[in-house]
Amino acid sequence: MELITDVRELTHIAYGFKAAKAMLSALELGVFECLKDEPGSLDQVAVATGLAENRLETLLTALVSLGLLSKTGDLYENAPAVQTFLVSSQATYLGDYLLLQTDRFLFPAFVELSEVLQGHGAGTAWGEYQDLMADPAVAAEFSRGQHAGSLGPAAALARKTDLAGRTRLLDVGGGSGAFTIACCNRNPSLQATILDFPNALGVAREFVESAGLGERVDHFAGDALNAEWPDGHDVVLMSFLASAVSGDTIGPLFHRAFAALPAGGLLVVHDFMVDDDLTGPADAALWFLSCMFNSADARALTPSLITDHMIDAGFVHAEVQPLIPDLTCVASALKPG
Ligand SMILES: C[S@@+](CC[C@H](N)C(=O)[O-])C[C@H]1O[C@@H](n2cnc3c(N)ncnc32)[C@H](O)[C@@H]1O
Repeated sequence: MELITDVRELTHIAYGFKAAKAMLSALELGVFECLKDEPGSLDQVAVATGLAENRLETLLTALVSLGLLSKTGDLYENAPAVQTFLVSSQATYLGDYLLLQTDRFLFPAFVELSEVLQGHGAGTAWGEYQDLMADPAVAAEFSRGQHAGSLGPAAALARKTDLAGRTRLLDVGGGSGAFTIACCNRNPSLQATILDFPNALGVAREFVESAGLGERVDHFAGDALNAEWPDGHDVVLMSFLASAVSGDTIGPLFHRAFAALPAGGLLVVHDFMVDDDLTGPADAALWFLSCMFNSADARALTPSLITDHMIDAGFVHAEVQPLIPDLTCVASALKPG
């Protein structure tokens, strides 16, 4: 990364939150939705969204300046990525993730970043998963948002991970079941169990049923750190779990995975990871700031940290591959036998 020399680059970072919130508000207020079929004028968008024209024009100007919309004459049009990812009729829709997680939990949480960095406990907007998942409505909202965000990575992981010959997957901290569903769809004889806090599983059941996988997927309610894990699984998957718990509990989780697997069993860990030299990439590095809201003891994950924990737990052949470029990696290892 080139070092910053210009004050405008500093202010660009300082005011980055304005661009984020402009996009999130446009999404929430239906701006992109009302331009999904054809370009529209200011007054057409005003009627569709119910926003006053003067305020809407200010928002649309900002969105055009950011490349989220184009403006040709009087007509506004969604940018290609907006049309693909921020319009709800698309299978690739990411809006629920951005609205239900980014806007609802992450954006307000970051106001308290300095306090969290000083060790004054988890923030009030977004805290430890055990507390977050204790409220059924919050758990459902969070998991629904997570599902939208995890569908893409889950499809990529299912494509890249060889589960041929594997019979039963335990998806620890499986949340909405996005990864279980993708792996089962990709491997027609695979069965699975989703383990998560009880209130996360209601949403998982719904998504599993609507994917037509009700017969192949079980649900197990419990705390992965304390509950006895269900047996009979030859693959353990943890996606975005290591980053969700404190640094100290990654080791115990991997030891539990080792104990639960038979000889030859496979552990797959998908998560945000920065490079081993702790220099970036920025997208992954910034994610670990978010993780401190879930656990004050969270720390940036690297491929080495994950594979060291795997080897320490007894696994062999630990290896790491990138999944979402500059953001996440998949680590895998085998139980010897
Ligand atoms: C960021 S979400 C990831 C969900 C899912 N694995 C995915 O990648 O879409 C983290 C999940 O881990 C679950 N979780 C966190 N700590 C847990 C624990 N101790 N026991 C069980 N589940 C846990 C949360 O409830 C949440 O569903």
